[in-house]
Amino acid sequence: MNRRKFLKTTSLAAAMLAAPGLARAAAEKTLRIGTITPASHFWTQTMDRVGTSLAEKSGGKFETQVFPSGQLGNEATMIQQIQSGGLDMGFLTVAEFSNRIDDMAALFTPYLVQNVSQASKLLTGPTATGMLDQYTKLGMKGLGFGLGGMRHLISREPGLTSADLAGRKYRITPFAPLRDFYELMNVAPTPVPLPGLFDALANGQVDGADIDLELAWKLKLYDQAPNLTITSQMMFPVVAVVSGRYWAALSNEEKQMLSQSVSEQIDWLFAQYIEYEPKWLGDLKGTGINVVDAAPGFFGDTIPEWKAIWEPKAPSIAALQAEANALTQ
Ligand code: BEZ
Repeated sequence: MNRRKFLKTTSLAAAMLAAPGLARAAAEKTLRIGTITPASHFWTQTMDRVGTSLAEKSGGKFETQVFPSGQLGNEATMIQQIQSGGLDMGFLTVAEFSNRIDDMAALFTPYLVQNVSQASKLLTGPTATGMLDQYTKLGMKGLGFGLGGMRHLISREPGLTSADLAGRKYRITPFAPLRDFYELMNVAPTPVPLPGLFDALANGQVDGADIDLELAWKLKLYDQAPNLTITSQMMFPVVAVVSGRYWAALSNEEKQMLSQSVSEQIDWLFAQYIEYEPKWLGDLKGTGINVVDAAPGFFGDTIPEWKAIWEPKAPSIAALQAEANALTQ
């Protein structure tokens, strides 16, 4: 059985297990979804759940195939495929989209929110929901923002302030707002694909990494970088986008089913991060590594300098900030 056939079979089987009445229904439509995260990651699981939910809601009319781990290419390639209609849907980092739509940088404003609970509220609030309309310029329908964990610093050597980081090389996800953030601290931002990060830390290709707790724990980065500074400087949103062509070919009822499935499963995703972030932090502390909390002052002038660059380019910063200021927890 080839890999695609295997994926297709497991997707269908999962839907039938979840909705036994579907066994006799023949799928009329396929929905192919791409993501860079591996099968075990919450983002991929969210898309698996969208497939199951859509099969249930449609009485088996939709058959979903999820392609994890960048099987269809990196995110830039998947965006092109979605634009051309070669791929139906993606669950992709907003980081990659911020390289194409400057305003998406607003979602990476430092210290916009304090934790994943606030992030989930902001990402489903009126400003972020309005920002989804901007994906139409790329020939896509934006269905909803989800999130990964808050971002922190992990390093081989300790760092008490951002001044200690100057001259070091830190792994970043390659996108302009984050690259600027590190360059303002005189840190050399170094793109390293996630699967190579453990080795890059081990062999000194990088001194540290901009990371979330999930990856620090699951990739065992603490083995090579035993200093974790809990900064929570940014959220790390993901967006569900559908090809404009695919969307246009759906009936209103089908659009509603797909939108609802995505929004319900993104709610599940939020709940996972709210539950698991404290657990991963406890697990990381349990390894005996050096874990310190840092206030925004850790970054010195970097934050106002970052805003001076990005506020003119990302007009949604003001509205997001106002909405975030009103969040209580
Ligand atoms: C990262 O590049 O750090 C990343 C990518 C996908 C999911 C979460 C984090």
